[in-house]
Amino acid sequence: MQVGIIGAGNIGTAVATKLARAGHDVVISNSRGPESLPPLDGVTPGTVADAVRREITILAVPWVALDLATQGHDWSGKVVVDASNPILPGFVVADLGGQPSSAIVAAKLPGALLVKGFNTLSPERLLADGATVIFLSGDHPEATAKVAELVESSGWAAIDLGPLAEGGRLQQYPGGPLPGLSLVRQ
Ligand SMILES: NC(=O)c1ccc[n+]([C@@H]2O[C@H](COP(=O)([O-])OP(=O)(O)OC[C@H]3O[C@@H](n4cnc5c(N)ncnc54)[C@H](OP(=O)(O)O)[C@@H]3O)[C@@H](O)[C@H]2O)c1
Repeated sequence: MQVGIIGAGNIGTAVATKLARAGHDVVISNSRGPESLPPLDGVTPGTVADAVRREITILAVPWVALDLATQGHDWSGKVVVDASNPILPGFVVADLGGQPSSAIVAAKLPGALLVKGFNTLSPERLLADGATVIFLSGDHPEATAKVAELVESSGWAAIDLGPLAEGGRLQQYPGGPLPGLSLVRQ
């Protein structure tokens, strides 16, 4: 699949690496432009706009950067994976007003088909051998199914937890019971 990643830090790089190893066509971007990105085997450096144009776009930026990273793009009908967690600088948990964090992210991306995923494990666990379970949740089953296909075809195991109001809360960090839980399908 053609995948775009916004955010080339710990999580963006780990996800890009595993996707590229599985043969997916991956563009990765950051805030400073493609020329600032270190080479990553099989992964193409690009702009945020390049990443948004892909079949699936993965958001892997800090909570405070979400507005800047997403504004000015057309998200309608786009499948977007939200890997972010609501942590502010200094490791302060953002006030979500009782909402699931990905519902707040979804509201920043009008028309996007948002799927929460890749937010519960460390980069090391994401890159570990074996079919590590990636929890997914979202309010658009067809988008969750597409992301599950990407996950499975990359060597992970996908578990669909249902809508954001339920599954999203289970995989929410901090607060949900699933973050940090590393399961491997045998
Ligand atoms: N680290 C973990 O273990 C972990 C696990 C699960 C989920 N998460 C979540 O995943 C997200 C990313 O975490 P991380 O540890 O990978 O962060 P990180 O290492 O600090 O990397 C953040 C990346 O976001 C990019 N970025 C910042 N502002 C941007 C903008 N306006 N436009 C485009 N790119 C921008 C940065 O690019 P520049 O350097 O060019 O600014 C950088 O490449 C966070 O929400 C975090 O809570 C982290």
